[in-house]
Amino acid sequence: MSDETQAQADQGDADAVLGQSAAVRAYFGAQYDAVARYAASLRAEGELRGLIGPREVARLWERHILNSAAVTPYLGQAGSIADIGSGAGLPGLVLAIQRPDVEVHLIEPMERRTAWLQECVEDLGLQNVQVKRGRAEEYHGAFEVDVVTSRAVAALSKLARMSLPLVRRGGAMVVLKGRNVEREIDPARKVLRSFKTAEPEILEGSTVENVEPTTILRVRRP
Ligand SMILES: C[S@@+](CC[C@H](N)C(=O)[O-])C[C@H]1O[C@@H](n2cnc3c(N)ncnc32)[C@H](O)[C@@H]1O
Repeated sequence: MSDETQAQADQGDADAVLGQSAAVRAYFGAQYDAVARYAASLRAEGELRGLIGPREVARLWERHILNSAAVTPYLGQAGSIADIGSGAGLPGLVLAIQRPDVEVHLIEPMERRTAWLQECVEDLGLQNVQVKRGRAEEYHGAFEVDVVTSRAVAALSKLARMSLPLVRRGGAMVVLKGRNVEREIDPARKVLRSFKTAEPEILEGSTVENVEPTTILRVRRP
């Protein structure tokens, strides 16, 4: 086994231990079994079905499941959310599992990804999710939600154009971003102004101890 393969195997073991830890169980509470079932499906099929890269399997809980869950405190009193570019279901499916009281639309243009999302919804028995195949722009004018989420879909200026028409007034877009998100704000100012948004807020999303917090950008539409 090469050093790199060994390192990945060790990382995968550590990630599996994290996923079964008391801290993660306590964090997800009653929803833990469903989240763990989703994580197991993604571990078994994610790479094979082209949903996540080969390196990601070894850091599924830390980089993907918990990273997605970090959005939850910023959903506030939302009754409806749309996750655009859900891909394997990140963050949308994790949020739908955590918040069964919230209506969740997963918007994704790629058929094999929407097929996967639908399978997960059925397997997990989620009653609060609608999988919508298409680009976010195709739904502009069709419906609005309280919060639009996304991760790794586009730079802020493009993302704002895709997301804000789906955000009802009084709602927000809440985006998982990297540490350098500040650099994306100036190029997006024109489009943010056109939607009369509030100043973007850079927030920290924490989940369990010893897992790096993630950067979240919230843009409210007053
Ligand atoms: C890099 S993947 C990220 C997937 C997932 N959000 C994650 O973080 O793992 C980007 C996803 O955005 C989707 N996408 C690209 N353009 C889109 C659009 N205009 N509307 C909705 N989804 C889009 C792609 O099909 C792809 O699944």
